[in-house]
Amino acid sequence: MRPTALVPASYGLWSVIATAAACGVALFGLRDLVAAARVQRLSPGGAGDLMAALALRQTVLVTGATGFIGRRIVEALGAGGHRAIVSARDPRKAATLAPPFWLLTSLDQIPSDTRIDAIVNLAGEPIGNALWTQAKRRRILRSRLRMTRAVVRLIGRLEHKPVLINGSAIGWYGLWGDETLTEFDGGKACFTHRVCEAWERAAVRAERCGARVVRLRIGLVLGIEGGVLGRLLTPFEFGLGGRIGDGRQWMSWIERDDLVRLIAHAIATPSLTGPVNATAPHPVTNAAFTQELARALRRPAVLPMPAALLHGVAGDFADDLLLGGQRVLPDKALLSGFAFRHSTLRHALSAILGGNGRHPAHRTRRRRYFGGGRGTSVPNMALLAARHRLSDKRFLR
Ligand SMILES: NC(=O)c1ccc[n+]([C@@H]2O[C@H](COP(=O)([O-])OP(=O)(O)OC[C@H]3O[C@@H](n4cnc5c(N)ncnc54)[C@H](OP(=O)(O)O)[C@@H]3O)[C@@H](O)[C@H]2O)c1
Repeated sequence: MRPTALVPASYGLWSVIATAAACGVALFGLRDLVAAARVQRLSPGGAGDLMAALALRQTVLVTGATGFIGRRIVEALGAGGHRAIVSARDPRKAATLAPPFWLLTSLDQIPSDTRIDAIVNLAGEPIGNALWTQAKRRRILRSRLRMTRAVVRLIGRLEHKPVLINGSAIGWYGLWGDETLTEFDGGKACFTHRVCEAWERAAVRAERCGARVVRLRIGLVLGIEGGVLGRLLTPFEFGLGGRIGDGRQWMSWIERDDLVRLIAHAIATPSLTGPVNATAPHPVTNAAFTQELARALRRPAVLPMPAALLHGVAGDFADDLLLGGQRVLPDKALLSGFAFRHSTLRHALSAILGGNGRHPAHRTRRRRYFGGGRGTSVPNMALLAARHRLSDKRFLR
């Protein structure tokens, strides 16, 4: 074999640094390549029909509108011919939202005679993006209470009372292992329970002003632009995914467009009030989620994240959000006639990751859902409503 003109030479530490830098550049290049391919393949699709449940030309105020969920709501409102009022802290960030919308930086800018049909209150310091230091915990709680109190003050002075769809999360229930949870169940103490409980209590005050209040206990929202899936995509696409801990913890999820449709349904359904679980009818364990995501991406997912390591590094952040979970069922949404388009994870992932993002509506049969595994028949709506009023009293008053 002829010798090559390239002669390896070592410059000690400099060679190590240069090699590490070259590997880093190659890795980041690969990551960007994957992301670029993803942009082509993964488009969230049109938002025109997501607000179909709403009557013609509604006015909806959205807080947290620049976030992962809020920006899709604003897009859906605009596409559906409705009027969006956006409350955002940073007008430059709000400029990236799909127009048209009326931008505010304070709710005090709204005249009392403005007709607002609904308020969707989602603003709050992100919960899952950093460790829960004492300062972070305070920001998580205070940001939500401050905005919700401002919303309740606004409702108090508005001449026409809007319905309030207030954010909350399935973290309200705390950790219950394998037990199934519906809106009739109580919560167990933990940080997420304390935050959601305080957030819901603040929102319920709007009822005293005559507003209908829906407390949306949101599950893990699935979409490519954020949330849990946004975080998992890159490692899974590199074949570095795996279950978390023993993988037996439950993940109650909802596809983002289904959540937007559920919010529209909640606005349009006067009988819907109190807590409403915003989760698909078929929650999965983390092991099943890992398997389904790996399958959808056609990648192996064999690198588990050790529970002891996560607990050691992240404490109760890891215990509540990563190693623990809730098996939540959307009883009230289904009973009130809401039809999920994506009721199984496989169906949702294939819509989100499969490229075309459009699947025929998948109506969940209420009878099948309540029969079989859970051994219950279709519940009586009036009885359920009465039980909900009771549970509201028990937990919130
Ligand atoms: N995504 C999920 O899987 C999920 C699950 C359960 C519950 N939730 C809840 O649903 C809500 C919306 O979720 P998301 O994923 O859309 O959240 P997100 O992307 O983090 O957006 C939240 C929005 O809240 C505002 N915000 C952020 N930090 C704030 C602070 N310190 N003070 C006041 N406002 C602040 C921001 O809007 P501006 O900068 O425009 O003001 C931000 O765009 C959140 O409250 C979240 O806890 C989400």
